[in-house]
Amino acid sequence: MKKKITIIGAGNVGATAAHWALARKLGDIVLLDVMEGIPQGKALDLLQSGPLDAFAGTVTGSNDYADSAGSDVVIITAGLARKPGMSRDDLLAKNVAIVRSCAETAVKHSPDCVMIVVTNPIDAMVHTAYKVSGLPKNRIIGMAGVLDSARYRTFLAEAIGVAPQDVNALVMGIHGDKMLPMVRLANVSGVPITELLSTERIEEIVKRTQMGGIEIVNHLKTGSAFYTPGLAAIEMAEAVINDTKRVLPCAAYLDGQFGISGYFLGVPVVLGEKGIEQIIEFKLTDDEKAALKQSVEAVSKQMEATGL
Ligand code: 2OP
Repeated sequence: MKKKITIIGAGNVGATAAHWALARKLGDIVLLDVMEGIPQGKALDLLQSGPLDAFAGTVTGSNDYADSAGSDVVIITAGLARKPGMSRDDLLAKNVAIVRSCAETAVKHSPDCVMIVVTNPIDAMVHTAYKVSGLPKNRIIGMAGVLDSARYRTFLAEAIGVAPQDVNALVMGIHGDKMLPMVRLANVSGVPITELLSTERIEEIVKRTQMGGIEIVNHLKTGSAFYTPGLAAIEMAEAVINDTKRVLPCAAYLDGQFGISGYFLGVPVVLGEKGIEQIIEFKLTDDEKAALKQSVEAVSKQMEATGL
């Protein structure tokens, strides 16, 4: 049976995600937004690409959650985006109300869905969706690690002069300045990056990855990144829809893994039809543990600010 994906929020990230979902032939897409006309117009525009790009499946724009009923995957992108001078935390108060209402309503229509949260600050928003939706922890996932790792891999590939898909690199922790691009584990087709780049160059790339979002906000001035955030959400949705068991870094609810309990944090997970099917735990060095602790402290402040 064809799968159904609802994308809530027809802004730049949501519309881009819809585009990638169609291009990857994941199933029928519903693009939902409170703004009348925007999801309908964008969905119709996307649908008309079908004859040119052999899209399979349909895409429907709607303002009514009833149209999302029975979705296998719900992706929440609705909310305000950053402008220059704003941190992701500055969005928290407004976006918590938006995500709360989206998650509560969406789950009523799609009680068996896997929910992917993209709205910023992601780690607090995924906690919000978890608290209000009542979904089990394996079916609520925050998007961030896929995006941050893609940025890290891009910068490493550029510096080394290799194809980005041959760079394997993982970013863990919060989607914020305290994120943890793992240096020890990063490699080019198995060769450690520490053999290929100087310590100084690696440090520059780590810093640039941590500030990857704001670099784009400062260029755009009117909003934040959307091409790779949209694709990152669909990379996750595809693993769920096609039950591929891909290992992707995602914000997952930790229950003792890495010595952390009660927080959503970016870690490598196995994604399949049940959502998060496994958290891949491994031994961290003392420095990595200390860096991850900083992420936990930052997420903990965000969680408190949600009031949930
Ligand atoms: C970013 O890092 C949107 O937070 C997102 O670009």
